Amino acid sequence: MRPVDRNEPQVQPILNQQKNAPAPLQKYGTVSQRLPIGLTEQVRQESVTMLNQLLADTISLRDMYKKHHWQVVGPTFYQLHLLYDKHYEEQSELVDTIAERIQILGGVAVAMAADVAELTSIPRPPKDREEAPVQVSRLLEAHQIMLKNCHDYAKRADDSGDDGTNDLIVSDVMRTNEMQVWFVSEHVVDTPLARAD
Ligand SMILES: [Fe+2]
Repeated sequence: MRPVDRNEPQVQPILNQQKNAPAPLQKYGTVSQRLPIGLTEQVRQESVTMLNQLLADTISLRDMYKKHHWQVVGPTFYQLHLLYDKHYEEQSELVDTIAERIQILGGVAVAMAADVAELTSIPRPPKDREEAPVQVSRLLEAHQIMLKNCHDYAKRADDSGDDGTNDLIVSDVMRTNEMQVWFVSEHVVDTPLARAD
């Protein structure tokens, strides 16, 4: 073996640094006053707590849409398969928007599945494949939980003066969820398929 030449550039990546990780840069649940956005620490803390709840619920709902996209069967297979995936994509957009708002406010966004599972208020669906009307009912229940929280959180963000968070909750989260409720709900109206009653 050649002796190590200290003047030669080292091209070896430094691996496994997580094994002796120093203290984290920022603890989950705290807010830091990094960005000059004109909001007090107390206001940002309250908004971050609300947004992390919305984030965990949005990740859960997003994933429920993908589960149902894969598992749906029946005469409405094609339309539901496509619709579920469209809603999955829209919920994915919301996930990113909410998480980035949390970071802007100086918080730490919840991210990993196990942490999301601990935090979410959306009931856990079974691993099993279910009938389309049951899928739809589960999705509508999840949307309703999200929307009730949105109304509560939007008011609180308005009262505290966090206009950006209020706008995000109303214009993005609430509007998207209301629209999706409409598209999904109309599938479980019992109407004649071929011949008028
Ligand atoms: Fe797909």
